Amino acid sequence: MRKENKQGRITRRGLLTGLLTGWATVSAIPVVSVLLRFLTPTASSAPAVESIELPDYGDIVKDSAKVVRFGKQPAIVIHTPAGQYKAFMARCTHLGCVVKYEGGEEVPRLHCNCHGSIFDLNGKNISGPAPRPLDPLRVNIKGESLVISTATRA
Ligand code: FES
Repeated sequence: MRKENKQGRITRRGLLTGLLTGWATVSAIPVVSVLLRFLTPTASSAPAVESIELPDYGDIVKDSAKVVRFGKQPAIVIHTPAGQYKAFMARCTHLGCVVKYEGGEEVPRLHCNCHGSIFDLNGKNISGPAPRPLDPLRVNIKGESLVISTATRA
């Protein structure tokens, strides 16, 4: 296809083709970027730290929970109606939305608002599209702090 006319000037068709090609290329960059991140979900989904300390864990009253930062990822610390502390990575195992605690008069559970997955207080997926349980975290009380750590750590 000729993009220049006989006088060596760029034709209207050539200019439009060039502009459309440039626009399509620039528009494709975010799509390709998202696709590459989706196809290679590696280290970014793993927590960057092995443990954190929560000196203010007394703020978490019975039958409630708090979402905290565990490295770059959210974690949820639960104070169960029975008085236990439990913690999980807060990203839903379906598509990664942050789960929230639902207690009160209902059976306590963790709920994902995105597509309706429900997890019990052991992190087990009991309904909805989530394919597996939440990733558990270890909970220990050390002095005045609650320490949560990855389950593989001793
Ligand atoms: Fe939680 Fe889809 S992201 S149910």
